[in-house]
Amino acid sequence: IAIRKPLIAGNWKMYKTGTQAVAAAKQLADLTQGVTGVDIMIAPTALSLPLMAAALGKDAQVRLGAQNIYPGTEGAFTGEVSGPMIKDAGADYVIIGHSERRQYFGETDETVGSKIRAALDAGLIPVMCIGETESQRDADKTFFILDKQVSDGLKGFDLGDLNSLVLAYEPVWAIGTGKTAGPEQVKEVHGFLRHLIKEKYAEGLAAKMRILYGGSVKPGNIKDLMHIEDVDGALVGGASLNPADFNKIIRF
Ligand code: G3P
Repeated sequence: IAIRKPLIAGNWKMYKTGTQAVAAAKQLADLTQGVTGVDIMIAPTALSLPLMAAALGKDAQVRLGAQNIYPGTEGAFTGEVSGPMIKDAGADYVIIGHSERRQYFGETDETVGSKIRAALDAGLIPVMCIGETESQRDADKTFFILDKQVSDGLKGFDLGDLNSLVLAYEPVWAIGTGKTAGPEQVKEVHGFLRHLIKEKYAEGLAAKMRILYGGSVKPGNIKDLMHIEDVDGALVGGASLNPADFNKIIRF
């Protein structure tokens, strides 16, 4: 019984102007025609969301996400973008706590929690990113770190809040490096995360929560990754920028 519909998500990071984003979105929409049984999402810069939403149309199969969100609906927070703004721009998802945001923009498990709350309040699906660094893995702290990121990031949420939440496991050492975590490592971590959700919340939630893998996902390794138990999709960086490659990944 397939209770979890796979999600293949592209994180475009700080790539593509609005013009380039619209062109790529149109190409991807053409290429993915006829694809079934998988949810597709692209997260461009927030500036491109309304342009892409208009180009793709309301009922498009390719859905949109933001890469970040600021808690609250509006206010004097120069430079920030709120949940209602993201929703209004045509997005359904928001990536939260990406390791680049944790590393360069001071995000913590606490800010991740408040951003997840803001996403849910706005009716957006949060894609919560977690993952250990290379030195944490070398020091055998992987599971301790993941437990902490999940427990602290989801502090104060109850079962009903988390129905739509997507977890994305991105080992920091595998992002943009060409190094993918090995099948055993991925299996171990995804199994651990599902078990953690079951222990903290409920078996039913754990059984339906989608857990994505991210970190150097390419057309050449997606099939093997998707065969791993507890892998429900991928969060793709570099390879999502090229519509032809991303289409191959979507058609794993
Ligand atoms: O969020 C996706 C990302 O961090 C992975 O990037 O380029 O290794 O696929 P990449």
